[in-house]
Amino acid sequence: LFTAVFILTADYIKNRRPGSFPPGPRAFPIVGNLFTVDYNRTHESLTQVTDLAERYGDVYSLRMGQTWIVVLNRFDVLKEALVDQGDVLADRPNLPLLQDISQGLGLIFLNGKIWKQQRRFALSTLKHFGFGKKSLKPVILEEFSYCAKEFKSHKGKPFDPHLILNNAVSNIICSLVFGHRFEYGDEKFMELMSWFGKGLELEASIWAQLYNSFPLLMRRLPGPHQTVQHIWNSVKDFIRVEVKEHKHNWDPSDNRDYIDCYLSEIQMGQADDTFDEENLVVCVFDLFLAGSETTSTTLRWAFLYMVKYPEIQAKVQAEIDKVVGTSRQPSMEDRADLPYTDAVIHEIQRMSNIVPLSLPHVTTRDIRLGGYTIPKGVTIIPNLTSVLFDKNEWETPDAFNPGHFLNPEGKFVKRAAFIPFSAGKRVCLGENLARMELFLFFTSLMQHFTFSMPAGVKPVMDFRFGITLSPLPYEVCLTSR
Ligand code: HEM
Repeated sequence: LFTAVFILTADYIKNRRPGSFPPGPRAFPIVGNLFTVDYNRTHESLTQVTDLAERYGDVYSLRMGQTWIVVLNRFDVLKEALVDQGDVLADRPNLPLLQDISQGLGLIFLNGKIWKQQRRFALSTLKHFGFGKKSLKPVILEEFSYCAKEFKSHKGKPFDPHLILNNAVSNIICSLVFGHRFEYGDEKFMELMSWFGKGLELEASIWAQLYNSFPLLMRRLPGPHQTVQHIWNSVKDFIRVEVKEHKHNWDPSDNRDYIDCYLSEIQMGQADDTFDEENLVVCVFDLFLAGSETTSTTLRWAFLYMVKYPEIQAKVQAEIDKVVGTSRQPSMEDRADLPYTDAVIHEIQRMSNIVPLSLPHVTTRDIRLGGYTIPKGVTIIPNLTSVLFDKNEWETPDAFNPGHFLNPEGKFVKRAAFIPFSAGKRVCLGENLARMELFLFFTSLMQHFTFSMPAGVKPVMDFRFGITLSPLPYEVCLTSR
């Protein structure tokens, strides 16, 4: 009894909310608010369902086990935090599960010098291969033609587009990092893709939360949290094989892809740099993880929105037919002349909200936000959902409405509250690439196919949460135009 009283008292003293700290629901002893969140719909738990922001304001706190988190809501608060005070929030928290997986390497979950060097290098390599003289545009359009062939092989009959889309989009990242694509249906590659989906789901589960809250205990216990490490290690082994092959036939005078560029960087070996082979493996892993699932999930939502709103689909097709025609491939230069199509793509991204809680940040010193003081070392969750569905920002926040991005003359208008890629120092590193992929793939798809649901079936707009929000499996019919 004495031990129990001692533990509960210590927990109470250690975890009291200071007066100036953001308010939030009452935290239970030891576990805090760990079990008040529905991890199958975490973003909803943190916004609509429990209406926490309504009750406690745009800056509120929760205690996950022994760790305090502060959830930021709405555009003004997120801008003030991530952009105006961006330096204080440039770091990621030291989450035990992520640390155990990344082993202090990579770029998504790293901080300080390693992150800065790796981010700068990845950005310049992306620019070189993505938008510079070795543009990715032909790669994307070539991949589209393989993808279209696969779609056509279903002859307008119902099929699940998930694997084909995943393969197609991942092939673009593969071309960038590995310098080659994988055939659709390649068994090893399919296995890799399914690991990604499973790994992301486990990382957003209660098991990951328990691991991060009680690492010493959870490291010793069996359970799905051990599987996630096993999954990610298998992905890294896959990448190690690619790196080995690159080293084998590497010509430093002709860098073919990201891995070649990285090998050159290792060879140059500046005294204070963080480039080595293990870091290369984790950086490739990070680019793959962040760059394949996100874009292909957005396209899967695009299919669903187009079948749900056939009149919008027809309007997009009419605009593409008029501007691009039916024979030539679309290009990025067409975007300015396709305002309606551009608005539809933006609205798909807004409504599908695929990274609803962004990725976590941490305060690197005390910060004032929304009238509260948040001390150094507190995990910050930028709630993108609260911005993308804010009734003060969007005329019809819960309805699919391309008009959100059009002025009365039908011209495309940018909206500041459109932040699916987040903002500030950690803004999505692949934003430009993703926008290019989405535009070229979506317009090419609309140019070649009409989308419909199988007879008698209605589109289901429900989702599965696993860091990203993905649609539930569905079948669709693609008829050649
Ligand atoms: C980070 C969204 C595609 C690479 C992020 C973040 C979001 C995001 C919300 C977190 C930003 C933050 O912490 O504040 C998206 C969406 C995409 C997409 C919606 C597609 C529709 C891509 C692609 C790549 C990529 C194609 C690949 C090159 C990254 C990386 C980070 C990141 C490396 C971590 C950046 C850092 O920590 O410095 N993304 N992303 N993303 N994204 Fe994306």
